[in-house]
Amino acid sequence: MASPRLIMKMKVASLRSEAGDVSVVEFRHPRRPQLPPFEAGSHVDIHMPGGKVRQYSLMGDPADLSRYLIGVKREEAGRGGSAWLHANLKVGDELAVSAPRNHFRLHNEAQAHLLLGGGIGITPMIAMARALKAQGKAFVLHFFARSRMMAPMLADLETELPADHLVLHFDDDPATVVDLAELLKEQKDGTHLYYCGPPGFMAWARASSTHWKPDTVHFEAFQPEEDPNFVPQAFTIQLRSTGQELNVPADTSALTMLRAAGVLLFSSCENGVCGSCECGFVTGEPIHRDAVLSPEAKTRRFISCVSRAKGRIVLDL
Ligand code: FES
Repeated sequence: MASPRLIMKMKVASLRSEAGDVSVVEFRHPRRPQLPPFEAGSHVDIHMPGGKVRQYSLMGDPADLSRYLIGVKREEAGRGGSAWLHANLKVGDELAVSAPRNHFRLHNEAQAHLLLGGGIGITPMIAMARALKAQGKAFVLHFFARSRMMAPMLADLETELPADHLVLHFDDDPATVVDLAELLKEQKDGTHLYYCGPPGFMAWARASSTHWKPDTVHFEAFQPEEDPNFVPQAFTIQLRSTGQELNVPADTSALTMLRAAGVLLFSSCENGVCGSCECGFVTGEPIHRDAVLSPEAKTRRFISCVSRAKGRIVLDL
């Protein structure tokens, strides 16, 4: 994949309204017929006027590099990015779009893939289903929505996927409702699980898959899990390269203090979901508060915009 630091001025080639208050945006480059490649599960940063940067999953076919497709659900209670896109974006507009980055990749070693998409969380699953279908891999996509009328991109999925690869679950149709705990009760050997959706769906999927082997469960969240009981404490960072120590007050992020000390770290969402500000840690006890790192990555990586530590942590910087 291209460097995620690459930012391209891209044109809005088309806009399409989908069920569930979702707008599908097609970006093309004004001069380059081929865009940087991406894998299923990748996202891009969309830079909006006023400095807002938001992350959206690519849902197009990874084999088609002529365009990037994203699906944006209007979230009135969100941080303003989707509302701005819905209210202002027109065909022909130019926006800065980053090269793709992937924290939610398919695992080739899996013998079968179980994909769960809740609402707008279907977007990365569409790219995954397209890639798996093209590779002839075993997979089933379960799509959860309030109703058929609220299920975005459903017509595309029903056209593209064989009936035995797509299972629909609508809250208003009792015949289709399924209990995730039942669905995930048994982990078949070699099966990997992938899920994405709004916070309630994420909590449901997480609670229903705690008995699965940790390295076979993969997810992408729109925001880190809220912990109402978490009380931030001050801690100390030591930089491995120089030994310099930085005190991080309880109300300040590690990223802020690192930048104040002149350490160059990229950032994008500053909300623990994009992974831009990731760095390594050498020793210490991190308090991971992100929605990016896998259990394995948490043993050696640190997301500086939201994560904290107990006492002292030595960062690989
Ligand atoms: S800036 Fe996005 S995870 Fe830190």
